[in-house]
Amino acid sequence: MKVTVFGTGYVGLVTGACLAEVGHSVMCVDVDESKIENLKNGQIPIYEPGLESIVKSNFSEGRLKFTTNAEEAVAFGTVQFIAVGTPPDEDGSADLRYVLKVAETIGQYLNHEAVVVTKSTVPVGTSDKVRAQLDSVFSTRDVSVPYHVASNPEFLKEGAAVSDFLKPDRIIVGTNSSFVESAMQELYAPFNRNHDRLMFMDVRSAELTKYAANAMLATKISFINEVANIAEYVGADIEQVRQGIGSDPRIGYQFIYPGCGYGGSCFPKDVKALVSTAKRVGYQPELLEAVESVNGRQKERLFDKVNNYFNGDLKGRTFAIWGLAFKPKTDDMREASSRVLMEALWQAGATVKAYDPEAMQETQRIYGSREDLQLMGTKEACLSNADALIICTEWKAFWAPDFEFIKSSLNEPLIVDGRNMYNPFRLEEMGLKYIGIGRSN
Ligand code: UDX
Repeated sequence: MKVTVFGTGYVGLVTGACLAEVGHSVMCVDVDESKIENLKNGQIPIYEPGLESIVKSNFSEGRLKFTTNAEEAVAFGTVQFIAVGTPPDEDGSADLRYVLKVAETIGQYLNHEAVVVTKSTVPVGTSDKVRAQLDSVFSTRDVSVPYHVASNPEFLKEGAAVSDFLKPDRIIVGTNSSFVESAMQELYAPFNRNHDRLMFMDVRSAELTKYAANAMLATKISFINEVANIAEYVGADIEQVRQGIGSDPRIGYQFIYPGCGYGGSCFPKDVKALVSTAKRVGYQPELLEAVESVNGRQKERLFDKVNNYFNGDLKGRTFAIWGLAFKPKTDDMREASSRVLMEALWQAGATVKAYDPEAMQETQRIYGSREDLQLMGTKEACLSNADALIICTEWKAFWAPDFEFIKSSLNEPLIVDGRNMYNPFRLEEMGLKYIGIGRSN
């Protein structure tokens, strides 16, 4: 099948490359010329396991094309995905400028029957706006082209996006058209072989499904973080509580790991957007607002713990930080807890020596060079002359460090563990002081 994908960001590129990987013919289009040139040369703008190799192989085999020519791109696909950015406005609602611009472009150039699919995470009602935009452009043209609008939200996790796309739990399609249903059946047939993963529903329900899924997961995280904070006050250990509740299949073990808050490009943005949608239609989303504020507070807890330990005397101190990305296996620093921590430490007059397996360049890009930030080449190099080690991201490389080395390198043998990676009792036996999340050891 011939597919056009507008936007070569995270969602667009993964979608395009994976559809090409299963045999479709895909043209990815972007307004950014240097990005398209780099992609043609095999340079991938993001770090995502497995993506580079499928982009390169499908490009060289001719199934994946890159262009900046919108007219050529619109002429190409029977399915036209809109996968451009929807950055949050000041009030948290998604800015649809780029989505609607693509709809306008499709309306200008489309001359064959096609399905226009919104893949970007967009507020409920956006597909109707896309349709209205197409209608209005077509009304100025002297042609009659049947086109269909659908919503097909993505549920990709960063760090696992390629495998999530190739092995989806479900494929949600919002539509009321039989043309769309058969086009989507054909498009997704390669992912649908063992059991039917396609779920057709009305457009608005599909749009809301995406927000509901992310808001539910964010709620689980804020819930466990809140209980972790209570555990600290009442002298309980959240890790035992987590296992105790996770064993109930109605609760489950997933997404109840306490920590220093959720970050990334999806949860913070999507919870805010759903809050803003709800308020706009006159509903007060109390639970979702609490999910967000609990998370904001949780991101401050690492600093609070360090600050309490040193009785507010952080000026001139140095802290080692392991892990800067919002989660392992990505270089993404958007809404990362490490940023809240580092910025608070700097505000208090402390210096940071940090290491992350992938996000060093991104950290440099965000903060530039500053005297109070030293980016180190190894995790060990952060430790010397540091007053404590603080962990923000649970990279595998941090799972089993040489604790004796940590102890002998730090000025103060203190580990503040924002992801509860270590066993407090074992560390204490070794003479290390340990502060985790929700652990009243
Ligand atoms: C998420 C959704 O999982 C995905 O389905 C959706 O399409 C996009 O948003 P992603 O943002 O890539 O994916 O990351 P995810 O692995 O879900 O983690 C999000 C954040 O939650 C991370 O900061 C992570 O550290 C945190 N988290 C996750 C917890 O603090 N505790 C948990 O138990 C799980």
